[in-house]
Amino acid sequence: MKHILITGGAGFIGSHVVRLFVTKYPDYRIVNFDKLTYAGNLENLTDVERRPNYVFERGDICDYERVAEVLRRYDIDGIIHLAAESHVDRSIEDPFGFARTNVMGTLSLLQAARLYWNGAWEGKCFYHISTDEVYGALPLGGGHFTETTRYDPHSPYSASKASGDHFVRAFHDTYGLPAIVTNCSNNYGPCQFPEKLIPLFINNIRHGRPLPVYGRGENVRDWLYVEDHARAIDTIFHRGRIGETYNIGGGNERSNMALVRELIRTTDRLLGRPEGASERLITHVADRPGHDLRYAIDASKLRNELGWRPEVPFGEGLERTVRWYLDNGEWLDHVTSGAYERYYERMYGSRAAASGR
Ligand code: NAD
Ligand code: TYD
Repeated sequence: MKHILITGGAGFIGSHVVRLFVTKYPDYRIVNFDKLTYAGNLENLTDVERRPNYVFERGDICDYERVAEVLRRYDIDGIIHLAAESHVDRSIEDPFGFARTNVMGTLSLLQAARLYWNGAWEGKCFYHISTDEVYGALPLGGGHFTETTRYDPHSPYSASKASGDHFVRAFHDTYGLPAIVTNCSNNYGPCQFPEKLIPLFINNIRHGRPLPVYGRGENVRDWLYVEDHARAIDTIFHRGRIGETYNIGGGNERSNMALVRELIRTTDRLLGRPEGASERLITHVADRPGHDLRYAIDASKLRNELGWRPEVPFGEGLERTVRWYLDNGEWLDHVTSGAYERYYERMYGSRAAASGR
C-alpha cells in the first residue's frame, strides 16, 4: 500500500494525475492537498471524489505545520508536487505570490518530508513537477532543451520554478532526500483554466470575442496532451531513477499563429459555423514583456530509459480538447465569472483594450 500526497490535485494537470492514480491504483491512498486558489476546482474531480482510496485536504503548501500534520496523519511515503502559481502573465503582475508558493511552498514541503522521513529513505519519493520554461528560450528552428541545458529563466514564473527545482536538488544532494524532477512542455486538454492560450481562445471563439495574440504570434511552443503528461508522471514516479531529471515533451511544435488558426478551424467546425468564420476575431495586441521565443523538448532520455512516448496525436488531442470545452460550457461560464472577469479587466483595462480597439 502506497500513501501518496498529490499537491495541486484540483488544478489542471493535477486533476488528471489524481484521476489516473485513483482509478489505476485502488490499493493506494491518494491524498489531494490543494489550497483551492482561483485555479483549483474540485468540480474537476467529481467522477472520482467518492472512491474509497481518495481523500481531499484543503491546505496551503506554505503552511509548514499543516503540511507536516498531513504527512503524519496519512503516513505519506510518496509526494507528487504540482501545486504552483502557473500563469506567466499573472507572475508579471504579482511576482511575490509566485515566489511565495513556488519557492517557499516547495521548500516547506521539502523540509516537512525530510523531517518526517528522517533518513528512512527506502521506498520514499519526492517527485517535483516543473516546466521547460526554466531553460529560457530557443531560437526559431534551432535546438532542443535537454536535461543538461543551463537554466536561464526569463519570467518571474520561470524564475520561481527554477528556484524551486534548485531547492529540490539541494535537498537531494545535501540531505539525501530521494527526489526526482521533471521538466515538461506546454500542456493542453480539459480542465485548464481559461487564462491560458488554448482554453481562453476556445471560450472567446464560443462568445465571438477578440482573440488577443501577443505580438506577431511567431512564438513557438511544444504541445503535449495532458493525459500523456499524467502517464509520464505515473511511469517516472514508479520507475524513474532517484536523483535524476527527465524532460517530458510532445514533439508538437506550433507557432502561436499556426495553433490559433488550427483552433479556429476545429472550433468553428464543431460549432457548425462556416470555415474560417472566426478568423476575424484574431487581434494582435502588445507583446508579453520578456516573451520567450521558442520552447522545444528533447525527451529522448525518458523514451530510451523508461519507454514513455506520447500517445495522443496533436490533431486528435486538439479536437478532444475543443469538444470538451464546448460540451462543458457551464464549467467555462462558472470559472470565468466573478474573480476571473475582474482579473481580465485589470490585465487589459477592458475587453476592448484587449482587442486593440
Ligand atoms: P494550475 O494553475 O492549473 O493548478 C495549480 C493548482 O495548485 C491549483 O489547484 C491551485 O489551487 C493549487 N495551488 C496553488 N497554490 C497553492 C498553495 N500555495 N498550496 C496548495 N495548493 C496550491 O497549474 P497546472 O497548469 O496544472 O500546473 C501544475 C504544475 O505543473 C505546476 O507546478 C506547473 O509549474 C507545472 N507545469 C505546467 C505546465 C502547463 O502547461 N500547464 C507545463 C509544465 C509544467
Ligand atoms: P500560455 O498558455 O500563457 O503558456 P506559456 O506562456 O506558459 O507558454 O501562452 C502560450 C503562448 O501563447 C505564449 O507564447 C503566449 C501566447 N499567448 C497569446 O498570444 N495570447 C494570450 O492571450 C495568451 C494567454 C497567450
